[in-house]
Amino acid sequence: MKIVRSVVELRDLVRGARQGGARIGLVPTMGAFHDGHLELMRRAREQSGFVVVSLFVNPTQFNDQADLSRYPRDEARDAELARGVGVDVLFAPAVAEVYPDGFASSVQVAGLSEPLEGTMRGPGHFRGVATVVTKLLNMVQPDVAYFGQKDAQQALIIRRLVRDLDIPTHIEICPTVREPDGLAMSSRNVRLDPTARQRAPTLARALRAVEASVAEGEHDAGRALAAGEAILAEAGIAPEYFAAVSSDTLEPVARITGETLVAIAAKVGGVRLIDNVLVHPGSHER
Ligand code: PAJ
Repeated sequence: MKIVRSVVELRDLVRGARQGGARIGLVPTMGAFHDGHLELMRRAREQSGFVVVSLFVNPTQFNDQADLSRYPRDEARDAELARGVGVDVLFAPAVAEVYPDGFASSVQVAGLSEPLEGTMRGPGHFRGVATVVTKLLNMVQPDVAYFGQKDAQQALIIRRLVRDLDIPTHIEICPTVREPDGLAMSSRNVRLDPTARQRAPTLARALRAVEASVAEGEHDAGRALAAGEAILAEAGIAPEYFAAVSSDTLEPVARITGETLVAIAAKVGGVRLIDNVLVHPGSHER
């Protein structure tokens, strides 16, 4: 595995692989790898002859400077883990390589960037994500790029920008990888103290309760969500949002008649966690 810092060197390596006939896979990340990241890399390894992983803690998507400075960083550990999966190139640029002096352009996906995480983290968050992902897709020009369902709104925004801007990359969304107790893996989980770590799976339990309610035939979104709200209340967790929205448009739904995204964000012990599940209406009408 090569570790490269410059776009020129990255492009040279990718060009060589492509000329050799390899399909190119890209996994964009901000590092602090856990099994969620490694699953994306394994999937890329299975499907592509040449796998690039980018490791870049993108400053423009952080609305909170403290969150940016606290973000866990350990490139040596990450490089070891990526090497173990058989990644070909770890692209770990400095901030100035991605945002040189005078950088002035951005990509904004209207509509989808506004609700849920957009409301809580501000309009700059998804502009930062969309801009850096567009740049990474242009730098590597992969055949396939891999993202996680864990960040459902981000995945939807990336699918949309690739379609809108005619970027010739297939976007593959991989299932959320969870700890045995249901907690969705996240780089932020290391910041949970033991008490918070014990309470954190409540988010996943609340989502499962909604899923079960819908599977049993509940089509009313408010009543289905109430099953999860009870679990959150019992654990003393007040979510920032806990919502049933269209999995295409992210607009709130009153009735669950098609595939619906149930998304949650909540602070547990001072650590902001997000999770979601896709639910499908059950067979019995209620
Ligand atoms: P990061 O949080 O490092 O996540 C990198 C990729 O891993 C994203 O596609 C994310 O959805 C996926 N991922 C994270 N946790 C996961 C889990 N438990 N199961 C499955 N996939 C998981 O998301 C970002 O970085 C950044 O916003 C980025 C896209 C790299 C742009 O800067």
